[in-house]
Amino acid sequence: MKNLVILGSTGSIGRNALDIIDRNPGRFRIIGLTANRNAELLAAQARKYNPSYVALCDRTGLSILAESINPAKTKLIDAEDVSKLCSDSSVDIVLNAVVGFAGLKATAAALIAGKKVALANKESMVAAGPLLNRMAATHGGEIIPIDSEHSAIFQCLASGKRTEVARLILTSSGGPFFRRENFDGITPEEALKHPTWNMGPKITIDSATLMNKGLEIIEAAYLFDIPADRIEVVIHPQSVVHSMVEFIDGSTIAQLSKPDMRLPIQYALFYPERIKQDLVQFDFSKELRLDFYPPPKDKFRSLELAYRAVREAGISPAVFNAANEQAVKAFLDHKIQFKRIFDIVEETMNRCGLGDADTLEQIFTANSKASHIAGNIAAEFENTDKF
Ligand SMILES: NC(=O)c1ccc[n+]([C@@H]2O[C@H](COP(=O)([O-])OP(=O)(O)OC[C@H]3O[C@@H](n4cnc5c(N)ncnc54)[C@H](OP(=O)(O)O)[C@@H]3O)[C@@H](O)[C@H]2O)c1
Repeated sequence: MKNLVILGSTGSIGRNALDIIDRNPGRFRIIGLTANRNAELLAAQARKYNPSYVALCDRTGLSILAESINPAKTKLIDAEDVSKLCSDSSVDIVLNAVVGFAGLKATAAALIAGKKVALANKESMVAAGPLLNRMAATHGGEIIPIDSEHSAIFQCLASGKRTEVARLILTSSGGPFFRRENFDGITPEEALKHPTWNMGPKITIDSATLMNKGLEIIEAAYLFDIPADRIEVVIHPQSVVHSMVEFIDGSTIAQLSKPDMRLPIQYALFYPERIKQDLVQFDFSKELRLDFYPPPKDKFRSLELAYRAVREAGISPAVFNAANEQAVKAFLDHKIQFKRIFDIVEETMNRCGLGDADTLEQIFTANSKASHIAGNIAAEFENTDKF
């Protein structure tokens, strides 16, 4: 029985993680659950799983949560104490399914406490990858990726030695606009319709801009300690091949499954064990098509901007991430056009400049500065563009 904290338990990944817990009774004890605003769902989860602790980051729903939980079983803690919860000696695994930079503090706290971190919150790794790797190495923490592409690469890497790896190949569904001529007039409602995955709003927009693939290039470079020029992206609309590793002898190892995030979540929670599952299987008696296309890099500047961020290193990936978060928020709020997301990220990187990212403080400062600059650029576009 492993003791587990799920950060972001009310989101898409969080709810899928709880489904895996339900399917494997007796394997996990829930120590903590957290959310941002969804007090009703967090309260329902608390009543079902009886975690020792719950926390809500946005204070608006605190009274709803406090009234709905069983105080004899579950204690309501402050959002500021979530890092302490992740470091508690009773905790074995922290599953971080928070969206955005907001997840970084907890990832760092868990790694410093030597925990296994099942990491969906890719923005942590993007903003602070080298620092998180050092924290894990120094304190005995471990990062097991949940992102389906990185889970695939993690599994494919077991086929050879690190020195035998030639390239990592990240697959991308291409999102809803891969074949679209131009990005004029795209509404948030259209961009929120992903062809193969059902996910939270931020990552769905990131998938439509391919900023998600940009974030994943950076995430892979840091998770697997490989230069970004040996990480390539290929469009694979069926989302069946989750990513591949090409070895120096020319063999390419791929991981395939039907698109279901419960698989990489389960893999991370049980790693290094593989457990029997009845979730998703292929029926090879029926036709199965797997298509691959080169990514349209000129149309989706996100990929080049991500490569630039890794090349520049230091705070640059954190700036890339912060600018994208602000741009996505402005787009979802109907304040800017879809195509402006690329402009905002590029212009924020130009205006922010370079800097070291050796401490959490430097990364938090870079995130604040980049968010501020990106917010201003978004406001400029809001004034000049007609949506
Ligand atoms: N969804 C997928 O299939 C998928 C696949 C690969 C990777 N990921 C990554 O997994 C992470 C979560 O994605 P998601 O799709 O599950 O997102 P989501 O559905 O939007 O859920 C996000 C979760 O984080 C909580 N949260 C939001 N802002 C927060 C804050 N400032 N502080 C603390 N908690 C906060 C939310 O609480 P409320 O519900 O109260 O707002 C919710 O529980 C992202 O980094 C994403 O890139 C997701």
